[in-house]
Amino acid sequence: MKLLEERIRAEGRILSDKVLKVDAFLNHQVDTMLAVEIGREFARLFAHEHITKVLTIEASGIQFAMATGIALNVPFVYAKKKKAVTQGDQVYAASVHSFTRGETYQVSIVKDYLNPEDRVLIVDDFLATGAALVGLADIVAESGATLVGMGCVIEKTFQEGRGLIEERGIPVQSLARIVSMSPGQVEFTAEKPL
Ligand code: G4P
Ligand code: NA
Ligand code: NA
Repeated sequence: MKLLEERIRAEGRILSDKVLKVDAFLNHQVDTMLAVEIGREFARLFAHEHITKVLTIEASGIQFAMATGIALNVPFVYAKKKKAVTQGDQVYAASVHSFTRGETYQVSIVKDYLNPEDRVLIVDDFLATGAALVGLADIVAESGATLVGMGCVIEKTFQEGRGLIEERGIPVQSLARIVSMSPGQVEFTAEKPL
């Protein structure tokens, strides 16, 4: 997505060769019209899939799930990260190990909001190690719903997330795919068509 690549080049801040800050327009302050365009693009890419629900994880996937849900005229659901204390049997849950934070946390969704009839598109802001996205895919599988694919706003192709998802046979589309980055220099590669 050309517009997104331009914004990353202009406003992204490279913190290391692995971490990109996009707080100014995607993650902390959100450019609402850019988020709307991102939602439209995910809706267009997966238009033939008869999606009934968009799924993401709090916090920074929410604005893109909402935009995609609006574009598809379907609800979105976000997995919560708070510890599942008394939720017990009423939730689908998965453990996610965060490499960036060095900790394992639970993500959960109340069972009422994912059903075997659902055709689910997962969206998130970053495709990095893939840990969170694999956790969401496990939750969809447990619910009996059909996972039609994943849409990621920014992918870092030099991390292992893509491989983990593709080895499960899940179609992935990323809107900006970063091959390498250093201050003043971000290199993108094109997405493969579905
Ligand atoms: P992932 O590939 O499944 O996202 O998992 P990973 O454990 O690699 O990423 C951990 C968290 O860090 C995720 O946010 C992810 O979106 C974020 N992240 C990964 N790489 C980058 C990066 O280069 N820049 C920024 N800004 N974030 C990155 P999260 O734990 O889900 O937290 P939240 O921010 O959504 O609340
Ligand atoms: Na995220
Ligand atoms: Na994040």
